[in-house]
Amino acid sequence: MQVFEAIKTRRSTRSFKKDDVTPQQLEKILEAGRWAPSGLNNQPWKFKTLSENEKKIVSGFTKYRKILEQAPAAIAVFMDTKLSYNRDKDVLSIGACIQNMLLETHEQGLGGLWMGEILNQKEKVREALHLPETLELMAVIAVGHPSEEKPETVRKNLSELMLY
Ligand SMILES: Cc1cc2nc3c(=O)[nH]c(=O)nc-3n(C[C@H](O)[C@H](O)[C@H](O)COP(=O)(O)O)c2cc1C
Repeated sequence: MQVFEAIKTRRSTRSFKKDDVTPQQLEKILEAGRWAPSGLNNQPWKFKTLSENEKKIVSGFTKYRKILEQAPAAIAVFMDTKLSYNRDKDVLSIGACIQNMLLETHEQGLGGLWMGEILNQKEKVREALHLPETLELMAVIAVGHPSEEKPETVRKNLSELMLY
């Protein structure tokens, strides 16, 4: 798939089949994240693939619980604040990292969901996963085989986005 086609056809997936995501598929998704750009190449991200049990626990910290429970795989993405040199730039880098993972998910014919609402309870998620305070949750990505038709989505026209 060409990059532009992947960018345009990727959609958030909120309903998944039971079929497993293989370790090889997950590893390639994580690899795509690993190759994201970052300020000073500091690579401030850390990843945790959630076991079924961890996924169930973490699901309790978002109002999108049902989506996460149903997804066969999930990746929690953290900022390693020990590696952070500029919070704005580190957050932006992690956004690029997450988008890379979503695009690779799509390339593999899987569906993904960038879950941000869970950040309202990011401390609880970190504690439940027994991770140190130096790791700050940035997102959870739910991954699986889509069980729904691709949802419609819209974007503003380019003319609305341009500043003259
Ligand atoms: C920072 C961020 C946080 C998001 N958090 C959630 C979320 O918690 N739950 C959810 O269902 N979708 C979440 N989304 C997905 C957006 O709703 C979705 O990307 C947007 O509606 C556009 O749809 P599309 O991804 O299908 O193009 C999030 C997306 C981003 C970038």
